[in-house]
Amino acid sequence: MPTETKPKLDSAAEKRLARQMTRDAVRKSAPKLHAVVKYPDPVLAKKGEVVTEFTPELAQLVEEMFDSMYAAEGIGLAAPQIGISKQITVIDVSFKERPEEKLVLINPEVVDRRGKQVEEEGCLSLPEIHEKVQRDAWVKVRAQNVRGEFFEMEGEELLARAMLHEIDHLHGILFIDRLSRLKRDLVLRRIRKLQKNGDW
Ligand code: NI
Repeated sequence: MPTETKPKLDSAAEKRLARQMTRDAVRKSAPKLHAVVKYPDPVLAKKGEVVTEFTPELAQLVEEMFDSMYAAEGIGLAAPQIGISKQITVIDVSFKERPEEKLVLINPEVVDRRGKQVEEEGCLSLPEIHEKVQRDAWVKVRAQNVRGEFFEMEGEELLARAMLHEIDHLHGILFIDRLSRLKRDLVLRRIRKLQKNGDW
């Protein structure tokens, strides 16, 4: 006797069940997206709080940060950028190409650095602004994962730059703060113009 066949339902009950299943599927697949705050929101200039509780809610928030980052077409996102002043950042320099490269850094610290690189950077909190920034060419970062376990991550080139850019966010530093005074003033003037035109 078959044991896994569905009990027979009348068509109204079938339709109700189908509607319920669709609702459940939508709820499970629709990620909660957080809006990215823009400069000069004061949360971007604040040092994030150290994370001390590694709860399922934290893991959930990290997933939402990845979803929000991908939706905004970014390769890195720091919690202050979604208005949460905590030391959490997510990075995926492969942008969904290689899931094993998804990186979560909680309470990260740079413990070693070498060399120099100068490349153009952008930031989800500074749309349309792209400037060359000098960074370390190679870094070693010590951080905690969503379970609170400590680990070390080394990176060079784009990964080093992404980690340094995101760690800066956790300390209230934006990439425009690393430009020369003259360049920074030009960028700020451009932002004021965009603001005036309602394009910011
Ligand atoms: Ni940024």
